[in-house]
Amino acid sequence: MSDTTFSKQPLDLEPSAAVLAHNSRFVPGGLASVNRKSDPVIAFARAQGSRLWDVAGKEYIDYHAGFAPYILGHNDPDQVAAVTAVMAAGLSNYGSGPTRDEGELAELFLSCASLADKVQFFNSGSEATAQAIRVARAATGREHVILVQGSYNGNQNVVAFNVMTPVEALGRQVIGDEYPRVPITAGIPVAEQELVHVVEFNDLAAVETMLARYDVAAMITEPILQNIGVVKPQPGYIEGLRKLADDHGFVLVFDEVKTGFRAGPGGFQGLTGIRGDLSTYGKAFANGFPIAALAGNSEMMDLVVSEDVSKRVLLAGTYNCHPVPVAAAIACLKKLRDPALDVYGHLDGLAQRLEDGQQMLFDKYGVTATIVRQGSAHCAYFMDHAPVNWWDLASNHDFGFDAKFRRELIERGIYNFPLPTKQGSISFAHSDEDIDLTLAATDAALHRLLE
Ligand SMILES: Cc1ncc(COP(=O)(O)O)c(C=O)c1O
Repeated sequence: MSDTTFSKQPLDLEPSAAVLAHNSRFVPGGLASVNRKSDPVIAFARAQGSRLWDVAGKEYIDYHAGFAPYILGHNDPDQVAAVTAVMAAGLSNYGSGPTRDEGELAELFLSCASLADKVQFFNSGSEATAQAIRVARAATGREHVILVQGSYNGNQNVVAFNVMTPVEALGRQVIGDEYPRVPITAGIPVAEQELVHVVEFNDLAAVETMLARYDVAAMITEPILQNIGVVKPQPGYIEGLRKLADDHGFVLVFDEVKTGFRAGPGGFQGLTGIRGDLSTYGKAFANGFPIAALAGNSEMMDLVVSEDVSKRVLLAGTYNCHPVPVAAAIACLKKLRDPALDVYGHLDGLAQRLEDGQQMLFDKYGVTATIVRQGSAHCAYFMDHAPVNWWDLASNHDFGFDAKFRRELIERGIYNFPLPTKQGSISFAHSDEDIDLTLAATDAALHRLLE
């Protein structure tokens, strides 16, 4: 068959390699976030809407979306206008007193994340999850924390464990008990590690075991595991967690940094009506600008001003609610909840078109694949069922084929992050034409791989 994909310019990795080599003289590893390093390394120079351009000038349709924030697309014109307007109007990061804009953002935010009473803002998702655990410990007077295998909750000590853990490091699947801890960073003191317990996703019995064994302050989990593709909770699991939290008095933290505002304006909790005691958000609510949030009930959130100093928590930061990300978030939220735009309807339509087309092509080429999708977040697993947890995924998914498939698509100008199982994200700036071009490239990629 002839290759009809739109990006005719061959992948030229030399200019990207030169950027990495230059940066490596000054920045360890050559880039500011090691999670951005992938094979191949591509240095991007520009982005607009659904498209990216690398430093060699090659154009891509983007499904990586900067690790998922770009729900409206790159450089959304309304957002750009809002950000430039606050700068032109002379707003600054005064560092003293409240601002009208942070109040406006909080009100707008809570009109979306409506199961929470109050919200506090930070600069990154990792700060939000760190503060969630701190608030939970202050509220309960307990110290142990339950994590979920395959859930990424940020870079700080208390959560930096067991994400895409090699099965050899786990040894065997553990149901009803805890996995060995496998830190994803060096430098976590043993005393801190001993307060952390990792359980399998969709395993309520393991949570009960932890509750019987330890004084648990909090359990934190992504409600849908979106750092290992899209792994959904089984019926009854999230409800079960809610009941265990109510019965045992630990703080259930839903980390909605990825699901929030991508799954819908109220995130996973808006879709299901099942509330976390605390919830963390980031990424999509500001369409790529650096801001994150911790939301929850007043009792817990107000610990920041508790009269009891033994419970008062410090939630502070020089750049919290800097006017630029605040303006970006307000502009984004206004668009996300505008019924005339129907952002989520548009996203769902595009994502369904992509899913249907991909499934047809996998069938055409006899590829065993299961596509899992939550709105515009999607992942194709090369296995015969939707994974229910990391062990299932790690032992059944064809990682080698996934890596080759991603590479063939990149050659053809379709950019998903090259690491197998990483979630794809569609933005409001994508069009039917983008999806059709993606499917044509997919057809050509599969033909190449399986010819
Ligand atoms: C679910 C989840 N929580 C927390 C984080 C940490 O956010 P950040 O990278 O902004 O610190 C991430 C980042 O990917 C995430 O996906």
